[in-house]
Amino acid sequence: MPVTPAPRHLPKGSNGARYRTEPAKMDYATVRRAYRRHAPYYDAVFGAFLGRGRRVAIDTINRLSQRRILEVGVGTGVSLPRYRRDLQIVGIDISPEMLAKARRRVEEHGLANVEAIHEMDAENITFADSSFDVVAAMYVASVVPNPPKLLSEMIRVCKPGGDLIVVNHFMAEGGIRAAVERRLAPLSDILGWRPDFGLAAFVDGHKAHVIEHRHTDPFGMFTLVHFRCVK
Ligand SMILES: C[S@@+](CC[C@H](N)C(=O)[O-])C[C@H]1O[C@@H](n2cnc3c(N)ncnc32)[C@H](O)[C@@H]1O
Repeated sequence: MPVTPAPRHLPKGSNGARYRTEPAKMDYATVRRAYRRHAPYYDAVFGAFLGRGRRVAIDTINRLSQRRILEVGVGTGVSLPRYRRDLQIVGIDISPEMLAKARRRVEEHGLANVEAIHEMDAENITFADSSFDVVAAMYVASVVPNPPKLLSEMIRVCKPGGDLIVVNHFMAEGGIRAAVERRLAPLSDILGWRPDFGLAAFVDGHKAHVIEHRHTDPFGMFTLVHFRCVK
């Protein structure tokens, strides 16, 4: 379990240091506030910076024969123009400001294959079980308040034998990067994501087989995980 630097109100350990033994927590109000702030410049800053992983994820989806896709945490919809036009896309997100940009993008690009964009919590998806062939989450898993619940919901709405595509930053298992990530953890509320979030904590106990797992740029900091959904 990662041990992260913690705020001053937490107790000190035997060596005098203050410890937090859980990954930093996020809550809905904090996430909404963060993305209200990020929405105006999100595309300019994170559009290109996070572009490589997004492209790898969508190219993976485009190679599948599946047709109905749910993208959770669709944000400003920066991914939407890259999907094959014969795929039917539904996007959900909890930030009205990010979604307003996504809706504008759908109009500007004439994306008739985008079936719907909804304000919806990815941890409480209102679609019926097995509604989608593919469920994607790009740079969302370390942002939501309860990541295992996110994965459970993604599995629930995915058809048996369908695909889950996750791109995310997962904490390094050791070395300098892990040390930096621990130091950044107390800034989660400001960043809008949890630097100390590990892949094992996300996947543990879920019924999904990892069929591909690879690092993506920039600097191999992000990971694409392709799961096959089993029920
Ligand atoms: C880092 S952004 C990623 C946006 C987009 N996927 C991309 O590739 O740029 C994270 C997004 O997840 C959304 N989000 C966070 N928690 C959520 C939740 N519980 N349900 C739905 N969306 C959520 C945020 O509002 C934000 O738009």
